[in-house]
This record gives sequence, structure tokens and C-alpha cells, in this order.
Amino acid sequence: ARSAAEFVPAGADLEGLRHAARACQGCDLFRDATQTVFGEGRAPARVMLVGEQPGDQEDRQGAPFVGPAGRMLDRALEEAGIDRDEVYVTNAVKHFKFTTKGKRRIHKSPTVGEMKACRPWLDAELERVEPEMTITLGATAGKALLGSSFRVSERRGQILPWEDGRLILATIHPSAVLRGDDREAMYQGFLSDLRVAAQALK
Ligand code: URA
Ligand code: SF4
Repeated sequence: ARSAAEFVPAGADLEGLRHAARACQGCDLFRDATQTVFGEGRAPARVMLVGEQPGDQEDRQGAPFVGPAGRMLDRALEEAGIDRDEVYVTNAVKHFKFTTKGKRRIHKSPTVGEMKACRPWLDAELERVEPEMTITLGATAGKALLGSSFRVSERRGQILPWEDGRLILATIHPSAVLRGDDREAMYQGFLSDLRVAAQALK
């Protein structure tokens, strides 16, 4: 199967990876999106946040979590006592996938094949950032890193041992909070998951 692997330069640092990712054609998602949205932030970092894929604003601006979900995430991180400047933020898939509805572009979840195709970028980021704690945001990122049978609803907010003695914690996606029927309750749940991570990092 096609994948990003052939586009990932061996031995490159994060800036080299970011540059190379602009030319990735590891799956078809590069065709309709504006640009590759690579991860950003501190490296190495104690914490790495992994979302699903860039949204409409991220696709236009070329940076992860800068739209409405990003603002919600920033607020929750601050309230949980995790400094966004101290973390590395990225996505499981680096191109925006969408369908158009009139002039609007509506997010469409990536397939398992697209997540697999994009995985070499995430693995390369993990190698450079070396986070003690990885936090997955939403079902897609949870499955990408913890396996296809992983259920966020059952295991969220728990610190789980991961590869090489590192830790991982899964929580919901900030977009889910924005879309929820009971936003305040969902926000509080999201916050309490992030606080579990913050506590473990003390
Ligand atoms: N949702 C995500 O999963 N990632 C982003 O970067 C923005 C919205
Ligand atoms: Fe490459 Fe990932 Fe974009 Fe597909 S989504 S083209 S694998 S960067």
C-alpha cells in the first residue's frame, strides 16, 4: 500500500521533517487539501497531544489546532495547568479531509488506510519529541495509537503504560465538546481527563 514512508527523510530533524512533509503524496488526501499541517511546538517535550486531522482553519493557516477546537483546547490546557508552550501538538493525519456543502467544507473522518499511510510522520515526530506522556484527543487518535479495538469511552482519563516505558492517556476530542448537547458537562469531563495527565507530570 502507498504510504508516507518514502517521503520521510532518514535522520532529519523536526524542521527537516516538516519541510519534507509539504511534498507528501503518501495517500490521496494531499489532492484536495490546501497544505500539509505538520505538528508544532516544543521538542523535545514532556507532553505530545495527538488530534485527528487538521480542520478547515488549520488547513488554511497551516498549523494544528488554531480554529474553534484549538481555542477550546487552549482553554482546557490552561485550566488543567498544562502550558501549551511546553507541549508538542500534532495530528494522526496531516491533511484535511472534507466534503463540500455549498461553500462550506465539512470535516470527514479519515479511513484506517489513510491513518496507516500517514503514520510514518507521527512515528518520526514521536522519535524526535520523545514525550513522557502522549495524550490522544478523540476516537481516531485513540485508535491510531492504541489499536483499532480501543474505546475512548471505556478507557478515557486513565494513564496507560505505552511503548518504551512511556505513558499515554486518551480523552475525547475538543470538537466533541463544541458539538455536545451538554457542553458544560463534556467540557468538565475533558478537563478532568487533562488534570489526570497534569497530575502525573508533576
Ligand atoms: N481537529 C483536530 O483533530 N486537529 C486539528 O488540528 C484541528 C481540529
Ligand atoms: Fe501524506 Fe499524510 Fe497527507 Fe496522506 S494525509 S498525503 S500520508 S501527509
